[in-house]
Amino acid sequence: MAKKLYIKSYGCQMNVYDSERMADVLAPLGYAPTDQPDNADMVILNTCHIREKAAEKVYSELGRLKNLRAARGNSEMIIAVAGCVAQAEGEEILRRAPYVDMVFGPQTYHRLPEMVAQGHRSRGAVLDTEFPVESKFDHLPAPAVPSEPTAFVTIQEGCDRFCTFCVVPYTRGAEFSRPVGQVVEEVRRLAGNGVREITLLGQNVNAYHGAATDNEDWGLGKLVVELAQIDGLERIRYTTSYPADMDDELITAHGQVAKLMPFLHLPVQSGSDRVLEAMNRRHTADGYRRLVERLRAVRPDLALSSDFIVGFPGETDADFDATLALVGDIEFAQAYSFKYSPRPGTPAAAHGRQISDSVKSERLTALQDLLNQQQMSFNEKCVGGTVPVLFDRPGRHPGQIVGRSPYMQAVHADGPLSMLGEITEVIIDSAHGNSLGGAIVDSSGDQEQLPGKVYA
Ligand code: 5AD
Ligand code: SF4
Repeated sequence: MAKKLYIKSYGCQMNVYDSERMADVLAPLGYAPTDQPDNADMVILNTCHIREKAAEKVYSELGRLKNLRAARGNSEMIIAVAGCVAQAEGEEILRRAPYVDMVFGPQTYHRLPEMVAQGHRSRGAVLDTEFPVESKFDHLPAPAVPSEPTAFVTIQEGCDRFCTFCVVPYTRGAEFSRPVGQVVEEVRRLAGNGVREITLLGQNVNAYHGAATDNEDWGLGKLVVELAQIDGLERIRYTTSYPADMDDELITAHGQVAKLMPFLHLPVQSGSDRVLEAMNRRHTADGYRRLVERLRAVRPDLALSSDFIVGFPGETDADFDATLALVGDIEFAQAYSFKYSPRPGTPAAAHGRQISDSVKSERLTALQDLLNQQQMSFNEKCVGGTVPVLFDRPGRHPGQIVGRSPYMQAVHADGPLSMLGEITEVIIDSAHGNSLGGAIVDSSGDQEQLPGKVYA
C-alpha cells in the first residue's frame, strides 16, 4: 500500500515549487501525497524564515505534530523540517524539538531518498544543511504532469544583493541560474501537458544569467523571448525582481512580447533615499520612479506591485512620508507591506535605532490604507471593460469559476467547469478589494458588447 506524504508549504512561491519537487523525488519510494497530516507516514514542513512570525509558526506546528504522533501511539510517522528555517536554525530545531526526525535545507532535496533510508537505518535525527557543489536541478526527476493550467518554474535561486534586513542570501545561498536549455525543456514539457501560463521564479529572478548553448549567458529578457516561441504556452510571468537588475533587454521585452503579462512585482521597500541606502538597496526613490516610467512607456497598461517595509531601524516620520509620496506617484495595482522584523545575523538587526512596535503599527496602517485605496481604484477602472481570463479553478459558489486577468486580479464568473484551462474574454461588471466579477463573453457573437475600455 502507498505510504502517505503530507507537505505543508510556508512563505514564497519557490517553496510551493520545491514542495512539488520533494513529492516527485519521494514518489519512487512509494510515497503518495495526502492533503492532511492525520494519517500521514511522513510530514514535511517546508518553512520560511523571512520574518520572525513566519519562523515561529513552525515551532507551534511541530508541537501539534508531536501530539498527533503521540495520539497515534507514537506511530512510525516521520517528521521533517525543510526550507529556510531548517537552513538557518539547523541544530537549534533539534534542540527545541528533539522529536523531529529530519532537518534539511533548500539545496539538498535531491538527497531526500538517501536521507529517508539513513533515518530508517540510524533511528537518529538526520541533519543536512550543506550547500552542495552539485546543483539539485541536475538531480531532481522531471516534474510530474501538472493537473492545472498554471505552473511555477524555478529558474534562479539565491541572492548576492545582501539587503541589510534580509535572510535570503544566508538561507538560499549565492545566486545561481539554471541553464537556458534546462528551463526551455521544462517549460516545453509543461506546455505539452496543457499548461497555459508559467511563472518563472527566483529570489532575484531578473538577475538571471543562464548559460546557453551559444556559450553566452542569457539574461531574463532573452529567455522570455525564447520561451514565448513555445506553442501552447500563452502567458509568461516572473517574480521577484530587484529594481537595479531590470536591464534594457527585459524592459524592451515588456513592450514586444505579447505573452509577457502586463503585471510586474517590483519591490521598492521604501521611498526614502536615506533608508534605501541603509538597506543597501542600490536604487533611489527617483531611480525607481524613472524605471517605472520607462516600463510604462513601452507597456502603458503595466500594473505594478511592490513590497514595503515600515519601521526599518532609524526610519523617521519624514522617511515614512517619502514612502507615502512614492506610493502616491506610482499608483500600485496591489502590494505587500510588512513591519520590519529583525532577523538574527543580518546587519540591520544589530542597528542601535530600532523602531517601537506601536510606531511600526501606525505606519503600517497608514500605508496599507493608501495601498488598499489604490488597489480598489485600479480594480474599479476595469469595470465596463473586457479582459481575457485564464480560468483555473472552481469558485466557492456552484456554477462559478475563477481565474486571473493579465493584471493578476482574481476574476469570478458563472461558467462551466469545462472552461477551466481556457483563456476566455470576460466583461467585468463588478470590482471588489481583492477580485473582479464578470460575465463570460458569448463566443457565438450575438451578445451585445458593453462599451468601455478593452484591454489587449
Ligand atoms: N522584516 C520585514 N520584512 C522583510 N522582508 C524581507 N525581510 C524582512 C524583514 N527582516 C520583506 C521584504 C521582501 C519580502 C519578501 O519580505 O519586503 O521584499
Ligand atoms: Fe533579499 Fe531580495 Fe535583497 Fe536579495 S534582493 S537580499 S532576496 S530583499
